[in-house]
Amino acid sequence: MRIALTVSLLVAACGDSSAPERVYISVGSDAVTSVRAVAAMQGAPAEVLEAGGDVAVLAVEPGELDDISHVMHEEFGRCGGFMAHDSLADARAALHPQPQLVVDYTIDHRPVVEAVLPALDRTAIKATIGELSAMPNRYYRSESGAAASTWLRDRWRSFTTRSDVTVELFDQGYPQQSVILTIPGSTRPHEVVVIGGHLDSITMLGGKNGRAPGADDDASGIATLTEVARVLLAKHYRPARTVKFIAYAAEEVGLRGSQAVVRDFKQKKVNVVGALQLDMTNYKGSEKDIWLMKDFTSAEQNTFITKLIDTYVGATWGLDACGYACSDHASWYRAGVPASMPFEARMRDRNKSIHTKDDTLELSNNNADHAIKFAKLGAAYTIEMAKGELGPPGSPGSSGFAHWKLIALLGGLLVAASALVRRR
Ligand code: BES
Ligand code: ZN
Repeated sequence: MRIALTVSLLVAACGDSSAPERVYISVGSDAVTSVRAVAAMQGAPAEVLEAGGDVAVLAVEPGELDDISHVMHEEFGRCGGFMAHDSLADARAALHPQPQLVVDYTIDHRPVVEAVLPALDRTAIKATIGELSAMPNRYYRSESGAAASTWLRDRWRSFTTRSDVTVELFDQGYPQQSVILTIPGSTRPHEVVVIGGHLDSITMLGGKNGRAPGADDDASGIATLTEVARVLLAKHYRPARTVKFIAYAAEEVGLRGSQAVVRDFKQKKVNVVGALQLDMTNYKGSEKDIWLMKDFTSAEQNTFITKLIDTYVGATWGLDACGYACSDHASWYRAGVPASMPFEARMRDRNKSIHTKDDTLELSNNNADHAIKFAKLGAAYTIEMAKGELGPPGSPGSSGFAHWKLIALLGGLLVAASALVRRR
């Protein structure tokens, strides 16, 4: 059912006048025979354009996507389970993940992490989930989906008056836009650390206007990274590497928002050294707390994350797999960026209400007790990846700096003047 929804929305997207007649999809190689069988039954055979390794690229007609997704669901137990691509070149690139960047992982910023963690507030996370899930939906082509972008941009902007911090919308031609908050690095600004989640929600029934609270999928992830950003900025964090918080648009329709961001960064030669994806953080489905997805992620970065959990979060963790490119981490992985996806439950214990009107905060007992663990992990990851320090309120880059300097200067003058007066 869930698959049918995702796919029918893809069909709708492909029905735009600007859309091509053929749609390019990348699927697991094991599913090619089934996909072709479905297409053949419809009298418009799916061409396999390229096959290599675990993934194949097919050109299909938009009208076939619905049945293909049904079969994927029935036979492979996947939801969606394929990436939709705007061009054949992009689809082909999905076949050949870039070699993974090698990163030196160290845990040596304990005082900074420990000054930040106690300020993370579970009630703030809960409140943000409440606000996001109160919107009718956050579908990438709906009015409320577009409003979610400006709402989040404004919320993030309210966290600081620093002139070096930017919060921008990233336009890729959909009503909904991705939102990017950047804290520039002090000493290694050209090395970028990304922490993200997806802003959009979807419902299998009702498309553009259907109710899709998406409290868990993925208001929980957005609220979690919003809390990390709030506290880091409240503590005047000045990273050595550049940090980018990204709320991706259009994840639910084939990871399109994150693919567009990755494409843009690649074009601009932005050097991303690590990406953390927070997609579903507040539904505790399993006994252990945090599950690291092993597929489409970096084993080395995952090991680093398990050490961060042990050192700073004190939560229990395990390893699991999505079985397909289930979220935006896969877009980074394919570009050679070490990516990780810490998840709220084992796959088999997952929240079964996502993509329905029932994906609400009530399913998480109206609290953010689970998500707070991911906020701690997100803050620890950001600090130990981007290093740097916490600054005083008037540190460089703050628009308060000039005032602070002026006050100090005036204070100094006053002291000097009164000393002079006294000497006379
Ligand atoms: N948050 C889900 C992915 C997910 C669901 C991970 C359940 C683990 C357990 C994500 O928003 C999603 O729905 N992804 C799509 C695939 C995507 C490529 C369109 C899906 O799983 O159908
Ligand atoms: Zn989803």
